[in-house]
Amino acid sequence: MDEDTRGRLTRDGIRIYEASDFAGMHVAGALAARILDEVAPLVFVGQTTHEIDAFITRAVKEAGATSATIGYKGYQHASCISVNHVVCHGIPGDKKLKDGDILNIDVTVIVDGWFGDTSRMYVAGKLPRKAERLIQVTHDSLMEGIAAVKPGNTFGDIGYAIQSYVEANRMSVVRDFCGHGLGRVFHAPPNVLHYGRRGTGPLLEEGMFFTIEPMVNLGRPETKVLADDWTAVTRDKSLSAQFEHSVGVTADGVEVFTLSPGNLFHPTY
Ligand code: MF3
Ligand code: CO
Ligand code: CO
Repeated sequence: MDEDTRGRLTRDGIRIYEASDFAGMHVAGALAARILDEVAPLVFVGQTTHEIDAFITRAVKEAGATSATIGYKGYQHASCISVNHVVCHGIPGDKKLKDGDILNIDVTVIVDGWFGDTSRMYVAGKLPRKAERLIQVTHDSLMEGIAAVKPGNTFGDIGYAIQSYVEANRMSVVRDFCGHGLGRVFHAPPNVLHYGRRGTGPLLEEGMFFTIEPMVNLGRPETKVLADDWTAVTRDKSLSAQFEHSVGVTADGVEVFTLSPGNLFHPTY
């Protein structure tokens, strides 16, 4: 059965939620963001991504919430941890982090049926200069995308804002993965592209909930998925970074559901 029967659907199949639905998204988003805050001290040289994921599994449980990713299409973990040239959907494992490794940790929780989905970048040891630039540009491109969210703009305006910012900094936007509607389900219409042309795509309307989660590469945009059927890497082995927020469109702009309670969203805090 469709769990998602609130509000109404647009002609593009995008759900319009009620004003009262924002509260549930804020609770779910805040939990996902708090867990990402708590993970920061666990990222160090010699640590395994499995240990980090085990902490996340416990934290979700202790909060009385549910992991959206455990059991999702056969995925077994409470997080995706994507190191260096891994673009997204990195599987936690026993490899130890090395000095200068950069990693994205992506957590999605369900609280009272509402989904909170967020990811951010971390570094083990000393952040290399080139990686710092990549992370800064990726973070700022997400903020450019969020700044384009208001009723009357289109999804193409979001993609354009991100792509033009990234390419002005001589980096590339991954095309093979996108953001997504969410709310009472994990992945719903529309596909939120991180590239595009101004004025194209569906109109943004008050009450839409979705993620923006640009993946940015230092080299070329092409990716491939490894034999484990999950891990996506850059084809040219260049470094990749990603930041993700879950957001809702308001009457005059946007609310971000996954703000970091400790202001730790940026890795070079
Ligand atoms: N959290 C990811 C997203 O941003 C999805 C991960 S699905 C998983 O959409 F199965 F790989 F965990
Ligand atoms: Co997402
Ligand atoms: Co995510």
